Amino acid sequence: MTRKSSKLVPALRFRCLTVLYDPLMKWAQEETFKNRFIAQAELLPEQRVLDVGCGTGTLALMLKDTQPRATVMGLDADPEVLKLAQKKAQNSNIDISFHQGLSSHLPFDAAVFDHVFSSLLFHHLTLEMKHKTLQEAFRVLAPGGSLHILDFDKPQSFWMRLAFYPVQVLDGFETTRNHVTGILLEALREEGFEDIHETNQFNTIVGTVHMYSANKPY
Ligand SMILES: C[S@@+](CC[C@H](N)C(=O)[O-])C[C@H]1O[C@@H](n2cnc3c(N)ncnc32)[C@H](O)[C@@H]1O
Repeated sequence: MTRKSSKLVPALRFRCLTVLYDPLMKWAQEETFKNRFIAQAELLPEQRVLDVGCGTGTLALMLKDTQPRATVMGLDADPEVLKLAQKKAQNSNIDISFHQGLSSHLPFDAAVFDHVFSSLLFHHLTLEMKHKTLQEAFRVLAPGGSLHILDFDKPQSFWMRLAFYPVQVLDGFETTRNHVTGILLEALREEGFEDIHETNQFNTIVGTVHMYSANKPY
């Protein structure tokens, strides 16, 4: 892996800001949009679910809450953010295993998950890493399994494009540039997914967020 492609952008760019992530996301009403995101998967009991770039674990906890009989795992590259996730799961007495690793080298066997989720990860990744991450999601999904992505992508208007600018300043232009024109649908097609759908999009004070679903062919 090149040095460029392995650079980690923490949840709020600087590690010292990580403790502010949950309060900020609560203020941004993450529960509302993450619930909508989870609903698109129609989770079933006994399914195996991975949250890639799980951050502080909120989505993983919500996934387990939605379908308590599913096996939920979270993965993130940042050990500090994973400590927060683990603490939240322990405090709620919820059984989720968290793993440290890169989205581009998932430490799981092939074809073991029914669903892979990724929320607000892709705009942290270089183009090369976006593609490697999609390839890894494809590899770990069982045939017929689904990938669910929530992230900033093509802004709905000029004002939404302006609103996205602070995110670019915070998280860096290299990883966010392609999202200004929209990158995720095309990247999903290129990596062999099928039944690719945009399931939702909504405007926030920092840009347009899109939700996508895509399947690994049988
Ligand atoms: C903006 S946070 C999103 C956290 C959470 N998914 C959410 O929706 O609130 C992005 C997360 O991706 C993680 N991350 C960035 N690059 C990564 C990579 N290459 N592999 C795994 N995790 C990564 C960061 O450590 C951070 O926790």
